[in-house]
Amino acid sequence: MQEKTKSIYYLGGKGAFTSEIKKVIDEITIKKNGRICDLFSGSGVVGHYLSRTNPVTTVDIQEYSRVLSSAYFNLSFVDFDKIELMLESILSSELFNHLYKYLNALIQYEIKAIEKSKFGDFEDLLKIIEGVPLIANEEGSDLHTVYNLLKTDCQFGLLSSGIDLAKHTTTLRYFGGIYFSYYQSLILDMILGLSEKVNDNEKDFVVSLALCSASTLVNTIGKQFAQPLRPRNKDGSVKKNIHTLVSKDRILDPIKIAINWLNKYRSYTLSGMNSNSKALRMDYLSAIKNYGDQFSVVYADPPYTRDHYSRFYHVLETMALRDEPQISVTTRAGKVSLSRGIYREIRHQSPFCIRSKAIPAFEDLFCACSDNGLPLVLSYSPHEEGDGTHPRVVSTKNIIESASAYFNDITVIPVDGITHNKFNKRELELDKRHTAEILIKCDRPK
Ligand SMILES: C[S@@+](CC[C@H](N)C(=O)[O-])C[C@H]1O[C@@H](n2cnc3c(N)ncnc32)[C@H](O)[C@@H]1O
Repeated sequence: MQEKTKSIYYLGGKGAFTSEIKKVIDEITIKKNGRICDLFSGSGVVGHYLSRTNPVTTVDIQEYSRVLSSAYFNLSFVDFDKIELMLESILSSELFNHLYKYLNALIQYEIKAIEKSKFGDFEDLLKIIEGVPLIANEEGSDLHTVYNLLKTDCQFGLLSSGIDLAKHTTTLRYFGGIYFSYYQSLILDMILGLSEKVNDNEKDFVVSLALCSASTLVNTIGKQFAQPLRPRNKDGSVKKNIHTLVSKDRILDPIKIAINWLNKYRSYTLSGMNSNSKALRMDYLSAIKNYGDQFSVVYADPPYTRDHYSRFYHVLETMALRDEPQISVTTRAGKVSLSRGIYREIRHQSPFCIRSKAIPAFEDLFCACSDNGLPLVLSYSPHEEGDGTHPRVVSTKNIIESASAYFNDITVIPVDGITHNKFNKRELELDKRHTAEILIKCDRPK
């Protein structure tokens, strides 16, 4: 029995459909045990599943995605016991204690604020979750951060401590208080820092522990990173359940969470892995153009709504890159402030999420596969008026029409696998019960 891959919560993640995807891939691949390209690999669950039988190349434009896939592929090199011990030793490490000295007041302030909110006193908690991150202070802003309000050692102490803040405190300074508690964000930074103390082929695994833990800890509705918790109702009054909303995530122990993830990963090593797999951070088109001759088949799962992944997962991207990004600003009534979500100023704008660019982007994908003689399996999730999902940028009909110019044989497969609809114009209207998720099998490239 193969251990089912647990991934971070990922928009459009295909963890539930991996065996159906593999079945269709096997039907059209040009070489039975050949290399599979998992294009737009996201959380990495599909690539991980496929790598149990085939060499796989995952491709995604986001660095966090490369890290997640690479972590799966390198599991056989990981010394789990050593890394577990490193996680358990974080609280006694010199760096942690040095930082904690300055941050203790801030951390205690938050603990007390959460406690007070239980009894209807929300003032301090609002200062934290409606405030700006610590990074705002470094940028010379006169905005009121809790950092400023406290007037304690941490305000100047941290800045004059001699600690390389850019290297050791990315999560804390960018997202502490906003998406995570200050304490949790400090621990996430400590985990990221451990990646510098392990072997090269364990590094992505350790970063991935921090990313997965961040995904479990994040204090938002629905565990996304697109926007922080809104503590107020539309009329400005404070939400009655704010204490519960905040405390349920912020009391979680980040070290325990990281060890849970480590043990989950440890269990995958029992199910075998093709060690010849690799993870690339790259644009989809460059990947097929540069490596197409290595693949036997392409599985592609591009975005299909206007939601840019770079916005939904910007926190993970900044944690993976630790590159001190500029934060985008918003202007309201002439007042400039940091974007509430603390978004990276420069984020990838995927053509698949832009109405005017999506069809050409699909055509480029079909053309590049066809030029390389590669069959393609495309995941898609159609939208029905009123089905509760976001409208799609491109319709199933348009995708299939565009694919028809590059492939001789196109079949639409509802992902539950019950009905195999050979494509023809009438059957573009798929049975409603089967429209939740489909695979478009594009065979015999022209
Ligand atoms: C629907 S998600 C993929 C989900 C994935 N199959 C899974 O199971 O987790 C789409 C992915 O496409 C990636 N992406 C968007 N534009 C891209 C581009 N131009 N090149 C490569 N990847 C891109 C996004 O970062 C996102 O991870």
